[in-house]
Amino acid sequence: MAVNLKGRDFLKLLDYTPEEMTYLLDLAAALKEKKRRGELTEEFKGRNIALIFEKTSTRTRCSFEVAAHDLGIATTYLDPSGSQIGKKESIADTARVLAGIYDGIEYRGYWQEIVEELAEYSKVPVWNGLTNEFHPTQILADLLTIREEFGELAGLKLTYFGDARYNMGNSLMVGCAKMGMHFTACTTPAYFPDKALIAECEKIAAETGATLTFTDDAMKGSKDADVLYTDVWVSMGEPDEVWEERIRELTPYRVTKALMDNAAEKAIFMHCLPAFHDLKTTIGKEVGEKFGLAEMEVTNEVFESGRSRVFEEAENRMHTIKAVIAATIL
Ligand code: CP
Ligand code: NVA
Repeated sequence: MAVNLKGRDFLKLLDYTPEEMTYLLDLAAALKEKKRRGELTEEFKGRNIALIFEKTSTRTRCSFEVAAHDLGIATTYLDPSGSQIGKKESIADTARVLAGIYDGIEYRGYWQEIVEELAEYSKVPVWNGLTNEFHPTQILADLLTIREEFGELAGLKLTYFGDARYNMGNSLMVGCAKMGMHFTACTTPAYFPDKALIAECEKIAAETGATLTFTDDAMKGSKDADVLYTDVWVSMGEPDEVWEERIRELTPYRVTKALMDNAAEKAIFMHCLPAFHDLKTTIGKEVGEKFGLAEMEVTNEVFESGRSRVFEEAENRMHTIKAVIAATIL
């Protein structure tokens, strides 16, 4: 049956079938090609979308704004402090207010249950721009980048190093399970994803041919991997006090040249960004100086190497977000 996603929310990849995800990836690739040719569409002219950001953003916000503009859609950006959301107005009320004015709502914030509640009360599609638990638009961009590199997804081995129990580790595990890939979480066991989510992904993997592996051995985890992936050790919204334990517990899982050399010959490095690969940021400098580090989750050498695909990945955020908007907006 032809895939039709009109009116659907995009809250987490668990809600989408492998066929629907492939449809979004194909649409993103087609829209990327169209943009290269300079062809923009007027198909959605007159529509408006609201972009709610309770946490800061560079890629996700810019991607939603540019994608919408390219589709002829106008945007309103609501920043972390500039609206009534949560403080003076409930999520349920906000959803009903915005759904009366807009044709779609993007939400970036804290708990997944907030974006799920927003969607429950909204009659227009709601798109998850990152929660503590999931970052589904990021994974679409990652899958597109991997497909562009290797020509396919099924059968590839992706290893995630670091805090695998947060939004990126969780979502990559779901994305790999759905697409028949071999996912490894390589970290100290306290940072493995939630057991219930692992069980859900195991069920999906049994149908798609994917496998899930959990190891605390960085050499085992990187062995023959096609994609080495990491993310910051302390995520948005977490207290500064956790830096010390994260550095102590996750330093063995920093992506280094030794790990890249141990991976498959054509292995690539990926990171959702922003990354602490040097001391050229305020936080990087502060934490680096305090703990005597020059780099954190990835070495500058790997980040800047010819195997790094982080900026291709960042560009693909826009093309994949455009596909999600175009496919779901009514
Ligand atoms: N990767 C990502 O979501 O980046 P931003 O936080 O800049 O949106
Ligand atoms: N885990 C990171 C992802 C940023 C895109 C965070 O939540 O801050």
